[in-house]
Amino acid sequence: METIKKIRHFPVLLKEYIECFEDSEMQVFFDGTLGAAGHALAILEAHPEIETFIGCDRDKDALDIASHNLKPWMGKVSLMHANFKEIDEILDELNIKFCDGIFLDLGVSSMMLDEPARGFSFRFDAELDMRMDKRSDISARDIVNGYSEKQLEEIFRLFGEERKSKRAAKQIIEKRRRKKINTTFDLVEVLEPVLGKRRKIHPATRIFQALRICVNDELGALKEGLEKGINRLNDGGTIGVISFHSLEDRIVKHTFKENETLDVITKKPIRPPYNEKNKRARSAKMRFAKKVKNKKI
Ligand SMILES: C[S@@+](CC[C@H](N)C(=O)[O-])C[C@H]1O[C@@H](n2cnc3c(N)ncnc32)[C@H](O)[C@@H]1O
Repeated sequence: METIKKIRHFPVLLKEYIECFEDSEMQVFFDGTLGAAGHALAILEAHPEIETFIGCDRDKDALDIASHNLKPWMGKVSLMHANFKEIDEILDELNIKFCDGIFLDLGVSSMMLDEPARGFSFRFDAELDMRMDKRSDISARDIVNGYSEKQLEEIFRLFGEERKSKRAAKQIIEKRRRKKINTTFDLVEVLEPVLGKRRKIHPATRIFQALRICVNDELGALKEGLEKGINRLNDGGTIGVISFHSLEDRIVKHTFKENETLDVITKKPIRPPYNEKNKRARSAKMRFAKKVKNKKI
């Protein structure tokens, strides 16, 4: 428990998040990416009227930390080890029809990035894993050693927007013929001749991002989770999403805009201040929408 107590996580855009739910009276709230429960604690404090708070995360380690942090609120909290795209099953299990608030704070947690054994970061040498949910079958190692050159190229180009995707894929295929690429440092070493040495941003950043998105089907989960979440939102309910790269933000923006039952509150995304100290938060974009009562379709 001592290690759990020491874990600190700084919720991104916290003040702005609370402001977006300011005018809402909420009974049921669904946090699909609970993490260390930073946003959760703030919303529970700001909205004592919440009767049922559902905290969902794919990462069991995060849920353990969250359950510790949420102890004072456990009377109204249900913790779910699940993918938020399973929102229908989760709500059905709890006998809940609709939520008044839904929130997603996408991507990885700082706990995942700082835990060497999870294999998310090129800062530590560890097995290439990157699974958010340790019950999942496919790891980054399986992809790097098993996918075809064309598949790898596509993953790097689409999910990493990596300019050197073709050469990176070719290099991996050539190197893995001789020796399996097992660890984060193996991968960095293999890619170095193609991507170059250290710049301001680590040269392997985009490849790591691409693999992580692929391993966890992050964009697929977002599309499915948003559609289903909007369907389970009460009339007048609010949905908010924080994203960390353009691929995610594009999905959020278009899904909100094209859904005829929603009014978009944030015409432009809410961004952190220019002098934001939290490095991870700098790329954050938050969008909110409200379910409209009796909107004519
Ligand atoms: C940025 S952290 C959330 C931090 C949290 N808002 C807080 O204040 O502590 C993102 C979390 O979302 C989880 N996650 C990402 N995609 C998910 C998905 N499809 N379903 C459930 N959890 C997911 C990750 O495991 C991670 O713990």
